Amino acid sequence: MPPYVHTGPVDCSQDADCSTLAGKTAIVTGGANGLGEAYVRALVAAGVYVCIGDIDTQKGQKLEAELPGTKFIPCSTGTWTDQVRLFEAAVTFSPTNRIHYVVANAGIHRVDEVFQPGPDSLPEPDLSIIDINIKGPLYTAKLAMHYFIRQNGTTPTPEQEDTCLILIGSGAAFLDVPRTPQYCASKWAMRGIMHSLRRTAYYYGSRVNVISPWYVQTGILPEEAFAHAKRVGVEFATTEDAGRCLLRILADGRVNGHSFFVTARKWAEKGFLDLDLEDFGDDALLGEVQAMQMVSAPVEAGLFG
Ligand SMILES: NC(=O)c1ccc[n+]([C@@H]2O[C@H](COP(=O)([O-])OP(=O)(O)OC[C@H]3O[C@@H](n4cnc5c(N)ncnc54)[C@H](O)[C@@H]3O)[C@@H](O)[C@H]2O)c1
Repeated sequence: MPPYVHTGPVDCSQDADCSTLAGKTAIVTGGANGLGEAYVRALVAAGVYVCIGDIDTQKGQKLEAELPGTKFIPCSTGTWTDQVRLFEAAVTFSPTNRIHYVVANAGIHRVDEVFQPGPDSLPEPDLSIIDINIKGPLYTAKLAMHYFIRQNGTTPTPEQEDTCLILIGSGAAFLDVPRTPQYCASKWAMRGIMHSLRRTAYYYGSRVNVISPWYVQTGILPEEAFAHAKRVGVEFATTEDAGRCLLRILADGRVNGHSFFVTARKWAEKGFLDLDLEDFGDDALLGEVQAMQMVSAPVEAGLFG
């Protein structure tokens, strides 16, 4: 795994060779329903063992019973000890006692009390979107890094086994989405975490990427909200294309530090594309500022500086 370098967008029209994934182990948070379930199904189809962490015990257990090679662990991602248990269970479940891929998918969307007008008394706004959508993935990222380092050490060698953390953004991670400052903050945050980790991940043989789905009909919004979007002409993306996007990233060990958009098919032949938003391209000024940002703590100074 070389240090981070921007080499332009990944060609998503190329099919992934998933043969390297068989026998690996993944964790998917929020994997009992919706997009998380699709990531689980795609991974299982590629021969990956999957540990599912979710608060929906009934559905999680049903999925475990249906899909050989999966293990369900009740887990509320906003609770540190739950995630610790999830990772411990995944190591025990893994045939190699290793964790290769971690998908920090669990997330919620609800009415945003930061934006909505309250009663005159102005009570403290509910920030639970932040707790679940940022605190949860930060716990997941910390645990992923802990296990990846335990497995691979911190000296880059060809023997290090590829590992990858996937963070889940949204259209709300890069588009203007009015009336939802908390949800948008939480999804932009996934790109922030990725930017912070992508330069040093190679020390422990790892990668970090973001998948940002467009509208996909799941349980995250009420049915009426999706019906309204359809009525006004929004063409949706699909859970299956999200699963294929995940495999495309995992199967190519060179993909690090990218953001992918799972889109309506009218915008991308395969239903997903590399946004190529995460670098400054020809902007020499911002390129210089980025280089200066790292002068006092260069990547070459070592993983922990
Ligand atoms: N569906 C979309 O249109 C869309 C678009 C962009 C991004 N996303 C993102 O995709 C991810 C998955 O969303 P979805 O649409 O599949 O939603 P969903 O509600 O259908 O599924 C979410 C899953 O996460 C679980 N979950 C919720 N809170 C949890 C917690 N604290 N701990 C553990 N599990 C928890 C739920 O039980 C459920 O199984 C989220 O991060 C969401 O923000 C969804």
